[in-house]
Amino acid sequence: MNQLDEAISEQGYCLKILSKYIKENTTNKWAGCCVKYYDRIDSTNDEAKRLGKNGAKHGTLVIAEEQCLGKGRLGRTWNSPKGQAIYMTLLLRPQIEPEKASLLTLLAALAVTDAITAVTGSFVQIKWPNDIVANGRKLCGILTEMSADMHGIRYVVVGIGINCNMTSFPQELKQTATSLFLETGKKQSRVQLAAKVIQSMEEYYEIFMQTQDFTNLKQIYEKQLVNYNRMVRVLSPDKEYIGTSCGINEKGELLVVDEAGQMHTVRSGEVSVRGIYGYTI
Ligand code: BTN
Repeated sequence: MNQLDEAISEQGYCLKILSKYIKENTTNKWAGCCVKYYDRIDSTNDEAKRLGKNGAKHGTLVIAEEQCLGKGRLGRTWNSPKGQAIYMTLLLRPQIEPEKASLLTLLAALAVTDAITAVTGSFVQIKWPNDIVANGRKLCGILTEMSADMHGIRYVVVGIGINCNMTSFPQELKQTATSLFLETGKKQSRVQLAAKVIQSMEEYYEIFMQTQDFTNLKQIYEKQLVNYNRMVRVLSPDKEYIGTSCGINEKGELLVVDEAGQMHTVRSGEVSVRGIYGYTI
């Protein structure tokens, strides 16, 4: 076994070699071509934003063994124990309208499902818009943040947290979270997974940029969608209703037909969508 293989099969502190692994195992043109590795950081998203402010280039990747201030959506914290998961953030400088930046989150969800299937063989799905779930529990969360001014987007950071090798979760997460280890019974290589996510992310990004929407990705996204043809409860500030989800449109909005047969388009960030049967997160 050469040094690189050993580092990959060793499940501990091997993320340091990610940059080398990406160079040797992918044909990426830009994603992950500059990797900033940290043993410990406040949040990879915050570090990517600092780098973005200081001119770091499109495709810069920040990855850490541990986050002491890991951030989730809606101001929540993200459980980030040392050496057991992937905490990484990709810095992008897309020339698109700021309203479209949220679609990059959906792209990342696609990239993560691809990578998990390719590396572990596990069956995972996307809970619209961007959680990755297995057997009704959350495996991965994605947090996208943008900096823009009157001229448009300065940068977008797409932060991805994948629960890889956790053997247990804190009491408050036990019912809703899972890890690849708990799903497969095997420790997984974080290096291979992270590299595959970044490779898929570049591929999907290139497809997305051709139309700057989800026209060419809608079908593939829907194939992974746990909400597809399922009953959902939509909770928005002004109303709550039950309906059947029938996929997404090219803007990445969820299409829901309510009990009266009326079609609604649900925008991410505005509402919360809950599954009614099977999973509850
Ligand atoms: C969610 O609430 O579902 C989003 C979680 C996003 C977590 C990742 S871990 C890497 C990156 N850095 C952070 O502080 N958050 C994101």
